[in-house]
Amino acid sequence: MASDVRIDGARLMKRIFDLAKVGEIDGGGVCRLALTDEDRAGRDLVVGWMRALGLEVAVDAVGNAVGVWRGERADDVVMTGSHIDTVRTGGKYDGNLGVLAGLEVVETLRAAGVRPVRSLAVAFFTNEEGSRFAPDMMGSAVYTGVLGLDEALATKGIDGTTVRENLRRIGYEGEQAPGFVMPSRYVELHVEQGPVLEREGFVIGAVEGVQGISWTEVTLGGTSNHAGTTPMSMRCDAGYVAAEIVTFVRRLAHEIGHPQVATVGALTLRPNLVNVVPNHAVMTVDLRHTDEAVLKEAEARTFAFIEEVAAKEGASVSRRTLARFEPVAFAPEVVARVEETAKRLGHSVRRLPSGAGHDAQMFAPRCPTGMIFVPSQGGISHNVKEHTAPAEIEAGANVLLDVLHAYVRGEA
Ligand code: GLV
Ligand code: MN
Ligand code: MN
Repeated sequence: MASDVRIDGARLMKRIFDLAKVGEIDGGGVCRLALTDEDRAGRDLVVGWMRALGLEVAVDAVGNAVGVWRGERADDVVMTGSHIDTVRTGGKYDGNLGVLAGLEVVETLRAAGVRPVRSLAVAFFTNEEGSRFAPDMMGSAVYTGVLGLDEALATKGIDGTTVRENLRRIGYEGEQAPGFVMPSRYVELHVEQGPVLEREGFVIGAVEGVQGISWTEVTLGGTSNHAGTTPMSMRCDAGYVAAEIVTFVRRLAHEIGHPQVATVGALTLRPNLVNVVPNHAVMTVDLRHTDEAVLKEAEARTFAFIEEVAAKEGASVSRRTLARFEPVAFAPEVVARVEETAKRLGHSVRRLPSGAGHDAQMFAPRCPTGMIFVPSQGGISHNVKEHTAPAEIEAGANVLLDVLHAYVRGEA
């Protein structure tokens, strides 16, 4: 059954811009790292909107917030949402779009007099980004039982403080057990964060799955010494070993070929001085591929190289896994529904995999799950310049509306 109910694009854009003022940074971007004061202020704003829409809002022990609009079948819940934390150099849309589009769907369906058969929940999950506390998708991983609550709460961030102490500090250590509202279906709207839709001229992406993610922290120990007096043959330079690893993973990704990607996003040297050979390096390696076997091969080759290059320099090495998620396939019936809905609404649509990690991937093993993408201008994300045209945001939110409306009416 098709519906002619449509979201209010201007109202959705206003919420996006209002939320983006919280933690606003130069260039139009946003910095709301997980569980900071800015994150708290963003949470307060969104929870206020949820309550104003009449949702029953509850927060769980890892700070995930869920607002529920109860249907006739109260415990049969369709969930949408995403995250409102950002990376340090974030844009306005990553995560925020999915949460605020969820609220817009609730507001639209309520105004249209819809009486839900299934309940509809809008959630935002703690620390999806993983930039401050690893792993990424932490809140949704705990919510779905992929990660233990105690392990998550004890996690130390880049500033040495724990998830637990920050949740308490910002007042978001909730009473509910994670997973307190387990959905029967999960659908998330997100910006693509890559170049495919824009380059090929599509407005909607029907996301088929998410590639596997491997994050490793590597710590290298060398010997600090005088940069002028120490002959090259007598050095044990942790910075040099780190640099070799940076260039190795880049070459490896090219050698394996698309869609293998490899990034060293964080690298710290000590003592980090012009005339001292570094005695210490800490770095991260982010490897991703859609095929688990290839991702494993990329990891094995990277780890072997790290041992080899460190041994040659006489440097010590330790490795720690920060995040490891296998590739995920979304439910074919949800992917097809997104695709058909987009076509019915007159939008160009193509299927594609997601390069970024998403909360939706945590739900995929538990219930029929899917995602809707809208284009990212220039394929830019995790950057203050992240942009999606308002018309495309409206198109994506209307696809979300129609998919959720069908589920809320009780359709398969
Ligand atoms: C997190 O969302 C990531 O994909 O890095
Ligand atoms: Mn995101
Ligand atoms: Mn992100």
